[in-house]
Amino acid sequence: MPETSIAEIFRKKPISQEVHIRGWVYRRRKSGKILFLLIRECGAVLQCTFEEKIIGRTNFEKATKVTIESSVEIIGTIREEPRSPGGLELSGKSLKIIGLAEVFPITRDQSIAFLLDNRHLWLRSRKLTYIMQIRAAVFDAAREWFKLNGFIDVQCPMFITAAVEGGATLFKMKYFDTEVFLTQSSQFYLETLIFSLGNVYTIAPSFRAEKSRTVRHLTEFWMLEAEMPFCDLNRDIEIQEQLVSHICQTVARTKAEELEFLGRDPKELLIKPPFERISYSEAIDQLVKMDLKIEWGEDLGADEERALTKDRKSPLFIYNYPREAKAFYHKPDPSNPKVVNCADCLAPEGHGEIIGGGQRIHDKDELLQRIKDANLNPKDYEWYIDLRRFGTVPHAGFGLGMERLIKWICKLDNIRDTIPYPRTIRRVYP
Ligand code: 4AD
Ligand code: MG
Repeated sequence: MPETSIAEIFRKKPISQEVHIRGWVYRRRKSGKILFLLIRECGAVLQCTFEEKIIGRTNFEKATKVTIESSVEIIGTIREEPRSPGGLELSGKSLKIIGLAEVFPITRDQSIAFLLDNRHLWLRSRKLTYIMQIRAAVFDAAREWFKLNGFIDVQCPMFITAAVEGGATLFKMKYFDTEVFLTQSSQFYLETLIFSLGNVYTIAPSFRAEKSRTVRHLTEFWMLEAEMPFCDLNRDIEIQEQLVSHICQTVARTKAEELEFLGRDPKELLIKPPFERISYSEAIDQLVKMDLKIEWGEDLGADEERALTKDRKSPLFIYNYPREAKAFYHKPDPSNPKVVNCADCLAPEGHGEIIGGGQRIHDKDELLQRIKDANLNPKDYEWYIDLRRFGTVPHAGFGLGMERLIKWICKLDNIRDTIPYPRTIRRVYP
């Protein structure tokens, strides 16, 4: 008899049929001569009962030895049972223990630190299982949108020699006899590839030595980046809002039950372009009216972004940040060179920035000047400057933090649970 997955049993409801399942013991209760087991497999849970009068005394005694998180193989018949989760129950004929578990350390009411030390076991919880399944759906939907829209998937190096987003958050490492950095962003490499491949994207790790502990920063996270030749800020924003809408709508459709378990109503994710756009200057005016202490020229932080988005249902773009608040490569706005043609996309409900993007400087002399103004060494950026020497074109792109997006989609307070093994200033174990 072939094995059936528990998810398939709930889909097909094979009432009165014999099935063969495999999984892990999620809950266990014995009541007289009946043993109740909840068996867990990939986020789905099925109640199984074993009665002494059906399986015999010796088998019943063996079965009762099973512990929480033991792996098992079960054969039995499916019946309707309104009192069990999902309305189905398996009446057990045989139970084989594959791996008898020791006392499982994770029980109720444990501290976050304990759970993080035992992350390799905590990942079996229903909450984390659902988040990781949604995470996979987010990655799939993103790739699907790029494929449907003719973007080429590329891969860039992780060992790099030139900072993209400033020196403060660079991880330095020894590389044979020299020193290199771990990448903060693949943007500059994507820029090199538009000359031969046109519209390109990558989904890759990004490393930042974030010294503060916040609910939205990791030291290792996954960034989705895209770069488009002959593209201005307006088109760049249109691409971002289509991509984000496609991801949210797909996940709302395919992961509704998992989202509901996490407290997210899937209907809230049925967002559509266009998203509202306001300029940085308008954002500052709104913040000052809300009594936040910020002056024109300063970058927006978590508090400001929360204030601007907490009452919103759909993302918000903020464009034209001051030149000083952004990295050197951003193209100044020709009509007001104090600001650059960039935009951040902020998720609603207070989540804040999920995307940073904009138009790049494509003139060689202008770029050289900005590199010098930023006290960087043009020698480190020779190949990047070369792109402006050989057939330069206006171009734009963006970087979307996958964990930030998942945090919003799953309605989580902390970015930690959006990735199997979160890396922060104090945590690299397990
Ligand atoms: O705004 P950032 O720094 O932009 C760039 O790196 C550009 N070079 C991207 C590009 O245009 N190709 O980072 C992009 C996004 C942020 O909006 C945020 O979502 C995410 O990356 N991000 C982080 N996510 C988690 N932990 C961190 N420490 C993050 N830093 C940035
Ligand atoms: Mg940013």
